[in-house]
Amino acid sequence: MKSGLETMAGLSLQPLEPFGLAVTSPGANLRDVPVSLLRQWTRSNGVVVLRGFSPLTKEEMVQYAGTWGEILTWDFGAVLELLVHERARNYLFTPGNVPLHWDGAFARVVPGFQFFQCLEAPWPGTGGETLFTHTPTVWQRAPASQREEWRKVEISYTTQKVAHYGGQVTVPLLSRHPHTGATTLRFAEELNDESVKLNPLFIEIAGLPADRHAGFLQELREALYAPRVCYVHAWRDGDMLLADNHALLHGRNAFHADSPRHLQRIHII
Ligand SMILES: [Fe+2]
Repeated sequence: MKSGLETMAGLSLQPLEPFGLAVTSPGANLRDVPVSLLRQWTRSNGVVVLRGFSPLTKEEMVQYAGTWGEILTWDFGAVLELLVHERARNYLFTPGNVPLHWDGAFARVVPGFQFFQCLEAPWPGTGGETLFTHTPTVWQRAPASQREEWRKVEISYTTQKVAHYGGQVTVPLLSRHPHTGATTLRFAEELNDESVKLNPLFIEIAGLPADRHAGFLQELREALYAPRVCYVHAWRDGDMLLADNHALLHGRNAFHADSPRHLQRIHII
């Protein structure tokens, strides 16, 4: 992607830092942008932010996502309403942070894409940004000694099914993107000191001596949160966002308890 503003068929394209692509087209309808083009942009940029497009109703969102491919449905249906619950039983539905993870670790299939729409953004300066880490770049930046260690690691993840996901899975740290072939990292962090401790995830590391576990985790987190690989998205009302779930990990900054924050999310296989 060339730097600077480009226009194509009425769309303004702007690269994001450190990765990603912003597409703006005030008042345009998302359905008028070819799906093949958006899919290609999402694969090559990791994240595509769509700003200024006409809002979609929940039904229109489902119908639109269906033009991309099969939708992964959950016990709530196709659209996850991400907002604070008054009596939350899982940290996702609190104003707390969400550590890095990939979606679908416990599902029958890992979805290829996430499609978000922001109905109500947090007030500016109150947090609630979504973080995306580009793991193929994390791998490319890793020194040979770290790569060697990462190749040995397999992690078991356990969480109780209180919300729509849960169970136990064991996943190698390194994986291969099923479409681009890039080396990716699959990792989900445990809740940390700042998190709201509801329905936590537990991890167990295999492949390394026990006295390396803490150092491995610390170095991995440093690599995943390095500013060069981590795009921080501050939501605005009406934003839509497409993300490559196979390539990226994502999480959320905590936000002010009084601030609104309402996102809708669909998984496309
Ligand atoms: Fe997620």
